[in-house]
Amino acid sequence: MVDFGSNDTLSLTSSGVLRKAFLDEIARHPDFEVGSRSTRIFEGSTKYLLDLEDHMAQFHRAESALFLPSGYEANVAIWSTVPQHGDVVVYDEYIHASIHDVYSMDGDVAPVHEMLKLTKEILPHGNAVFTIDEAHSNGLIGDNGEQRRTRLQNNIQRFYEKITGHSEWAKCVFGGILSLPTQKTWHTGSFQTPIIPLITELGQATKLTQKLHEAGYQVNSVFYPIVPRDKERVRLVIHADNTTAQIDEVVDLIMNWSRSRLADQLKRSNLLVSGEDMYQDVAFSD
Ligand SMILES: Cc1ncc(COP(=O)(O)O)c(C=O)c1O
Repeated sequence: MVDFGSNDTLSLTSSGVLRKAFLDEIARHPDFEVGSRSTRIFEGSTKYLLDLEDHMAQFHRAESALFLPSGYEANVAIWSTVPQHGDVVVYDEYIHASIHDVYSMDGDVAPVHEMLKLTKEILPHGNAVFTIDEAHSNGLIGDNGEQRRTRLQNNIQRFYEKITGHSEWAKCVFGGILSLPTQKTWHTGSFQTPIIPLITELGQATKLTQKLHEAGYQVNSVFYPIVPRDKERVRLVIHADNTTAQIDEVVDLIMNWSRSRLADQLKRSNLLVSGEDMYQDVAFSD
């Protein structure tokens, strides 16, 4: 299936770039042992892992780094150790489900600088720990960005221009068939986020997802409790290696489906009006 679903936004996995880097790295270290042999507190902290953590710290310009197998485990590690009795935890209402039950699927950007500034103003003695659960911007924002992001940015632009410029788009939004919270803001930042949250009517996200799957396009539906109950959606993720033809086709498929929903809606409302007329006729004849 064409990838409009995974978080491999720079197409590092699908293009084989990571595989090549991995094999090159193994070839450079012929003695590299696969497997941890033990938990880290005993014999699991190999030199290679420590070097990797140094490298990650430098990459992120941090004092140090700790490598964990998943984002979930990183969140468990932080939130079960850092906050102490009497501390207050203030969190963004859209944080990830692994910390709370609703998180951002909106493809928007957290105002981290403003949050940090505010924290320093409110707690001038520095008695705060500021935590960012970052999973989607590595390589997309900042000095360490890859060249591939230019391709990705062009693809995101293509998608938005094609869908919001579609002759039926405004009608579908007005009719409540689809909405795109990022419609007005996608081009206002210094970069565009690849997550496209297409919010549908209740009960319709699965249907649109199914239509796209049948046509060979991988996308995901997202429901409560990952997003609020009335904000179910089809979540598309744009990739560096998506072609223009694929983007155009996925937009056409979305818009064809939306147009037929709109036609159904009109049919239903016409039936309703004629039903009401009938009722009035009965009332008059009484
Ligand atoms: C912001 C954020 N935090 C945490 C996670 C959880 O990561 P993992 O699936 O590696 O546990 C994700 C997964 O997408 C995420 O987007």
